[in-house]
Amino acid sequence: MKRVRVRLGNNSYNIYIGSGLLAQTGDWLKKSGFNDKLVIITDQPVKRLYGTTLKQRLTSDGFNVAILEVPEGEEQKSLETAGRLYGKLTDLYAERSTPILALGGGVIGDLAGFVAATYLRGVPLIQLPTTLLAQVDSSIGGKVAVDHGKLKNKIGAFYQPRLVLSDTATLKTLTPGEISDGLAEAIKHGVIWDREYFTYIETNLDRIKSFDGAALEAVVSGSARIKAEVVAKDERDFGLRNILNYGHTIGHAVESTTDFGVGHGQAVAIGMLAAAGISNRLGIFDTGELTRLKGVIEGAGLPAAIPEVDAKKLIQFMEHDKKIIGGRVRFVLPRSIGEVFITDEVSPSLIENVLAGGG
Ligand SMILES: NC(=O)c1ccc[n+]([C@@H]2O[C@H](COP(=O)([O-])OP(=O)(O)OC[C@H]3O[C@@H](n4cnc5c(N)ncnc54)[C@H](O)[C@@H]3O)[C@@H](O)[C@H]2O)c1
Repeated sequence: MKRVRVRLGNNSYNIYIGSGLLAQTGDWLKKSGFNDKLVIITDQPVKRLYGTTLKQRLTSDGFNVAILEVPEGEEQKSLETAGRLYGKLTDLYAERSTPILALGGGVIGDLAGFVAATYLRGVPLIQLPTTLLAQVDSSIGGKVAVDHGKLKNKIGAFYQPRLVLSDTATLKTLTPGEISDGLAEAIKHGVIWDREYFTYIETNLDRIKSFDGAALEAVVSGSARIKAEVVAKDERDFGLRNILNYGHTIGHAVESTTDFGVGHGQAVAIGMLAAAGISNRLGIFDTGELTRLKGVIEGAGLPAAIPEVDAKKLIQFMEHDKKIIGGRVRFVLPRSIGEVFITDEVSPSLIENVLAGGG
């Protein structure tokens, strides 16, 4: 088992990473001072796989456990679903001291986190992430949110969990596509912050994809450590935390302009390649580095070339997005693997050029 500390003053917390941790949830809760009532929020597939067993275990550990289930899918990250959950929490007489356990992928983490942040002005949140994406990324750092109209993830809060338990054994029931989605974010962490970690992923891709326990633990703890370091320096996303958006400016535009026909991990991979291509054309990011990046992305089961996209439509989308959130279209570009910089001075013609040239 590994431990990563997220250092945020009074809001600091630990992330524990290891195989079989879910079975020890009761012990960890007791160590964190929780003894009585608690509510698990999960989605249908995760309830079937892990939720029912977790509820039974916690009940035999002496907790008074309720489990609230929502259907799976991004559509559940809505004010309507949050509203339904508030109603159920009221029916259960959940109090300000009643912790909410978010058991599932990023959708559940964001939704249950949003509910925990707002119900009774905030109840304790415990993250129990079960997808690779949630373990390497979304359960860490305290961004909780729902979607609203065109605003994806924009109705939300910064609300840190009290504890994160990442049970790597749960990853074994994910599809290869879901593993690739998580790997996209892990590769991102290597490029923005830690060359050695990138090399670890590069040389251990086969072990990771075949669910080798030690390799999964290394990837999840490596990413958790990197995200924790970045978040500790800029909890509320005013500066450094922006680097976590590497690959997401173009990636988000690709997702949206294809009506989410291109999945998130794939879109981020395309965005990372495009940003690396832009930096390469600017004479900053070395061609050898670009080749390495492409190799890892391909090895992770993600698109290793930029597919034919309507560059003009993408640029239009980014301009529009910029108007909604304010400011300028900002790019995170790699200087080398392990170091990035932020710029808002990339010309539309260069973006178009890189997208047209396949990276
Ligand atoms: N808060 C943040 O900082 C942050 C960061 C990145 C992404 N996100 C959000 O995360 C969401 C995507 O998360 P995701 O990719 O985990 O998707 P998800 O939560 O929809 O999970 C994907 C699917 O896997 C199933 N599942 C979950 N765990 C499983 C397991 N162990 N075995 C089998 N099936 C399992 C789920 O039921 C779901 O159908 C998006 O809404 C995104 O906005 C948030």
